Amino acid sequence: MTSNLTPRLGARLAAALRRLWPWSRPSAERYRDFNGRYFADFYEQERMLADGPRMAFYHAAIQRHVHPGDRVIDLGTGTGILAALAARRGAAVVHAIDHSPILTHARTLAAANGLTSISFANVHSTEFSLPEPVDVILHEQMGDCLFDEDMVANVTDLRDRLLKPGGRIVPSRFEFYCEPVKVRDARHVPFIWELKVHGYDYSVLERKRPQDPGYYHLRSSDLGLVEHCLGEPAPALTFDLHTVHEAGLPRALTFRRTVVHPGRLDGYAVYFRALVDDDLALGSGPLDSGRAPHWGFRLLRTDRADFAAGEVIEVRLTIGAWTDLDSWRWSHRRLPAAQPAGCAGPE
Ligand SMILES: C[S@@+](CC[C@H](N)C(=O)[O-])C[C@H]1O[C@@H](n2cnc3c(N)ncnc32)[C@H](O)[C@@H]1O
Repeated sequence: MTSNLTPRLGARLAAALRRLWPWSRPSAERYRDFNGRYFADFYEQERMLADGPRMAFYHAAIQRHVHPGDRVIDLGTGTGILAALAARRGAAVVHAIDHSPILTHARTLAAANGLTSISFANVHSTEFSLPEPVDVILHEQMGDCLFDEDMVANVTDLRDRLLKPGGRIVPSRFEFYCEPVKVRDARHVPFIWELKVHGYDYSVLERKRPQDPGYYHLRSSDLGLVEHCLGEPAPALTFDLHTVHEAGLPRALTFRRTVVHPGRLDGYAVYFRALVDDDLALGSGPLDSGRAPHWGFRLLRTDRADFAAGEVIEVRLTIGAWTDLDSWRWSHRRLPAAQPAGCAGPE
């Protein structure tokens, strides 16, 4: 009897612990829970739907790349908007999947709008399957730092299992940026140990640098924050979801920028561009007036450094996991003006 009870009790205790202490779960499971709850609210969906550049980009992309009669998967359908655009474009069937309770509202909306070619599934994409492959995978899985909503793992899993050879992923091409920038003087917040306030010197606190990685990156979507990039922006990494594999993403990037706007370096701005063809793009850059406004960007803060025109900043970014900004580390070194500029590329 005891030998029967022990595993059962153990399982019940583990279940109780999970409920009481959600952080005891493995991080992938925790992230799924968080993501599903985060997108269950109307507010998050409203922000995305009201983002004019985002919706214009997807509307144009679907007009171009979904053809009448196509079989389509909409990965992470939310309120069902991309599925609805594909259905109205003439797709034979759209499989609209989402693991969040928001899916209930997507069903209601499709019925209220008279769309009958959408088939809804309330599952995580990794548990979704079909008897025959599809022509198109639609998705909007981009996080502020591009990778943080597990886009690469989720889309490539569906691609490898359920996309026809020659099928299309919309959007598929991505540019990841990590640009050295100066923040506007009035908005600049130095590290505390760099401060001297009315002669009161904080430099002694450098010994107490916080260990929390979150302290070193700042979230913003404020177009007034960044004054300029020190060099000419260029992607630090590009990839195409038709061919990329998560394990093949580089774990370190080293790239160089020749300084064209001299002065103070405050950090690196992390943002992205998604491309559908060369003339249709969606960006989240802090200096892009046409940026999709609901995405934030990140400032990876650096110790103060000043650069003269023509000097070269060599940035090194190392990545524990692309999905976890807290695992990223960054540094730079100054190279004399004669060094070649541009992207040294992934390692
Ligand atoms: C950024 S929202 C986009 C919603 C909608 N496609 C749109 O463009 O308005 C991402 C959605 O994907 C869902 N999601 C994220 N990862 C998923 C996964 N692996 N499987 C199913 N749904 C997922 C979320 O619950 C959320 O509703």
